[in-house]
Amino acid sequence: MNSVINRIQQDHQNTERLLQLIERETAHLEHGDFTNVPLLSDIMHYFVNYPDLYHHPLEDQVFAVMKKRDPSSAAKVDQLYSEHVQMAEASEGLLERTMELQGNAVTPRGKLVQEFRDYVRQYRAHMNREEQELLPAAEKVLEAADWKSLEKQFATGADPLFGQILQRQYQSLYKVIMAEAGK
Ligand SMILES: [Fe+2]
Repeated sequence: MNSVINRIQQDHQNTERLLQLIERETAHLEHGDFTNVPLLSDIMHYFVNYPDLYHHPLEDQVFAVMKKRDPSSAAKVDQLYSEHVQMAEASEGLLERTMELQGNAVTPRGKLVQEFRDYVRQYRAHMNREEQELLPAAEKVLEAADWKSLEKQFATGADPLFGQILQRQYQSLYKVIMAEAGK
C-alpha cells in the first residue's frame, strides 16, 4: 500500500473516533442528559478546519488523476466531489448551530440531534465507499509517478489534532480522545 492511501485511511480512522464521540454526545442531548457541548463544537471546528480544508481536497486530487487515467470512472468521481461540497456545508452549519447552543440560544434540540445523526451516517457511508470502491480503483489505474507527485502534495496540510503538533485549540478534545482510547 502506498503512503497516500495510508494517510487517507489513517484520516478515516481518526474521523471514525470523532464520529463516535458525536454519537455519544448526541444521545445525551436527545435524552436531556448532561451534554458536553464545547466538545461537540471543538469536533465541528476540527471538521471544518482539517477534513473539509485538507483531507477532501487531497482526495479530490487523487480522484482527478483517476478520472484522467480511466474516464469511465468520471460519474463516480463527480459524485464524490459533490459529496465533499455537501459535507463541507453540513460541517459549517453544524458548527454554527453547536456554537449557538453553547451560547444558550434557543436551539431546537430535536432538529439538531437529527442533523448530527444524518451527518454521522452520511460521513460513514462516504468513507466506506471511498475505501471499498474508489481507492482500490485508483490503485489499479494510477502509476508510480502519479503517486509520487501526489505524495509531495500530501506533505502539506498537517493534521492539527492527530498530527505531530497538537494545536492549542484542540487540547481538551485531544484529552477526551486519549481518555477514550485508554478505556
Ligand atoms: Fe475521505
